[in-house]
Amino acid sequence: MIDYSDRHSRYFWRLFSSRARLYTEMIHAQAILNQNREGLLEYSSEEHPLALQVGGNDPQALAACAVYAKKYGYDEINLNVGCPSARVQSGHFGVCLMKEPKLISHCVASMIQRVDLPVTVKTRIGVDKQDSYEFLCEFIKTVSEAGCEEFIIHARKAWLKGLSPKQNRDIPPLMYERVYQLKKDFPKLKFILNGGIKEINTAKQHLNKVDGIMVGREVCRDPYFLSQLEKTFYDSEIPRRENILQRYVTYAEQKQKEGIPLKILLKPLLGLFHGQAGAKQKRHYLLQCNNLSQFLKKTMI
Ligand SMILES: Cc1cc2nc3c(=O)[nH]c(=O)nc-3n(C[C@H](O)[C@H](O)[C@H](O)COP(=O)(O)O)c2cc1C
Repeated sequence: MIDYSDRHSRYFWRLFSSRARLYTEMIHAQAILNQNREGLLEYSSEEHPLALQVGGNDPQALAACAVYAKKYGYDEINLNVGCPSARVQSGHFGVCLMKEPKLISHCVASMIQRVDLPVTVKTRIGVDKQDSYEFLCEFIKTVSEAGCEEFIIHARKAWLKGLSPKQNRDIPPLMYERVYQLKKDFPKLKFILNGGIKEINTAKQHLNKVDGIMVGREVCRDPYFLSQLEKTFYDSEIPRRENILQRYVTYAEQKQKEGIPLKILLKPLLGLFHGQAGAKQKRHYLLQCNNLSQFLKKTMI
């Protein structure tokens, strides 16, 4: 998630769940090829299992990114065909490419040809007026014929004009049935359902019908949701808040020594106090904080 799932947040989230697959923010293929690649792709070994999410429309460039994903040790490379932002549309990538399944299939085929990593696609159930179930099936059929075996489906369509990215995450209705139906119609493919999952019971219901779930905003708001999911499905222990804090502060102190600004390192912690007494003051203190050990002492009280 852009502006959220940087390496520090991922390190932090990993403390809540050892099994969840974490995803990078979407990174444009040209940024990986032509910009500060190390800075964009480096991560801590604790973050595994970890997927690199890329955006783009150029099969050769995406294939080169897949090679880098492999070289850097990612566990999966995922192509974003779901983002509707104006910037992304003007760059001709993201969800507007749902209208060009052949191009996506070339991108996927080209990546698969170069690496033995899983190449997956994150998409929506439709775009603009191309929102019928038949359209979605045709898209999945075309892209899967290129070799993609796993799709993450945000179960709402996107409008390219008239809605902001935020509205495009809230206003078009969620249609989970469409994703369930995809699993019935393409039983050999893996479908991961995404969108609006905030409760364990709902997660359970989805998992009876599809292969997996992806959770975005709820984990940012309350990272303990990850631990609750893991407890429900794998009977893992819920980690203690103090331990999480201690471990993250140790990590952050090291990163601070490496030159990462404290403000960036503290951002992941904003969700840690969700639902707790004094959460507001702790968050307020966090935003003002300029010393990690002091923060630790104060918030442990
Ligand atoms: C701030 C923000 C940034 C996002 N960035 C990305 C992104 O980089 N790649 C992506 O596939 N989805 C991105 N998304 C969409 C989420 O991954 C997810 O599909 C969407 O929020 C619906 O799931 P949720 O209801 O669990 O949050 C972003 C969402 C938010 C709120």
